[in-house]
Amino acid sequence: MYEFAIAWEWLTFAVRWLHVVTAIAWIGSSFYFIALDLGLVKRPHLPPGAYGEEWQVHGGGFYHIQKYLVAPASMPEHLTWFKWESYATWLSGFAMLCLVYYGGADLFLIDRHVLDISAPVAILISLASLSIGWICYDLLCKSPLGKNTWALMGLLYVVLVAMAWGYTQLFTGRAAFLHLGAFTATIMSANVFFIIMPNQRIVVADLIAGRTPDPKYGQIAKQRSLHNNYLTLPVIFFMLSNHYPLAFATAYNWVIAALVFLMGVTIRHWFNTTHARKGRPTWTWLVTLILFILIMWLSTVPRATAPGEAAETVAPAFQRFADNAHFPAVKETISTRCSMCHAAEPVYEGLARPPKNVRFDTDAEIAAHAREIYLQAGRAHAMPPGNLTDMTEKERALLTAWFESAVKTR
Ligand code: HEC
Repeated sequence: MYEFAIAWEWLTFAVRWLHVVTAIAWIGSSFYFIALDLGLVKRPHLPPGAYGEEWQVHGGGFYHIQKYLVAPASMPEHLTWFKWESYATWLSGFAMLCLVYYGGADLFLIDRHVLDISAPVAILISLASLSIGWICYDLLCKSPLGKNTWALMGLLYVVLVAMAWGYTQLFTGRAAFLHLGAFTATIMSANVFFIIMPNQRIVVADLIAGRTPDPKYGQIAKQRSLHNNYLTLPVIFFMLSNHYPLAFATAYNWVIAALVFLMGVTIRHWFNTTHARKGRPTWTWLVTLILFILIMWLSTVPRATAPGEAAETVAPAFQRFADNAHFPAVKETISTRCSMCHAAEPVYEGLARPPKNVRFDTDAEIAAHAREIYLQAGRAHAMPPGNLTDMTEKERALLTAWFESAVKTR
């Protein structure tokens, strides 16, 4: 049913909209609190138990904020919690993962040249990697090594690089980067859900009961917040990377990912230091620039397997598109209207690689992209861009008829 393809497309858009909005809210409030925390000033007149204060101006008013390290002497009537920004980002992100990568596993998740697995197996691996990954991370933090902040960070970096390499051995490059982002974001959200919030609740309960809370709860939460601080920027990079095949679909994509994590640290370090009024470490921008240039250079290293060797046989999931009576005419249309750009070696001037790695060199590739071709060039006029190749309405009608008749014959 073609209505399904259209509804699916809109559903994906709606969830993506939600996901971006919730992520802005989460990361925005997280940036705000990090800067606030680092900018706190100790002054003599502070009330007992207060650690520092800050004055801020915003939207026509002045704010006077004081931080109590463990807790104030008595509980205020109303407390604003910050947790749904994080949970909603994770939940909507997980929904996106299901819609795009599990729903479209044969196209986006599985690369049969990397590992020939079925969709259910690939989905199981994906789910297991996210949950087991969190458990390993949590155990590491709780181990004796967790007491040494910097040793722990070093070890976590090794784990992240190992995950980057592992994902590229399992999935498409695009899915590998997305999973690396999802894995990291799962750690961040789980830190809020399993560690930071429960600890906060213990402290609040202690206060209400008139007990003095143990400061260790705050310290543990602080350590996890520090990890979240340094992981934010790489996560956003990985989430956006699916628009940039040079990042995810080149030979050393996992090394690129490893360097991206370092850039997350160098950039955040500048802001952290500046907000703490400890100077402006310009060198971090220099290091970031060197890392970025290194990434650009790595993305030019040729792949061992020539791109022309891509999928020759049509995957079973897309067989009906190749068997369809319209297919020969569709191939003809695509070769005249699309292939100048969407080929392993595009002939369109200025294109070094096929845009978004979408290629129509073989029957297998055309059949696998049937839904996208239908949406981009059949139903909508997004492709070819600016109708550069003068595609006719008749040809668009052909693409539409091809997809719609093929999905009817399930
Ligand atoms: C002049 C070059 C050019 C031609 C011709 C062209 N495309 Fe594209 N195509 C692009 C570019 C550039 C992008 C990436 C757009 C972006 O980044 O949003 C793209 C992206 C796509 C995508 C991926 C869209 C997405 O958001 O994932 C599909 C599918 C696609 N094109 C299909 C087609 C089809 C079908 C045709 C022929 C009818 C066609 N293209 C013709 C340049 C071209």
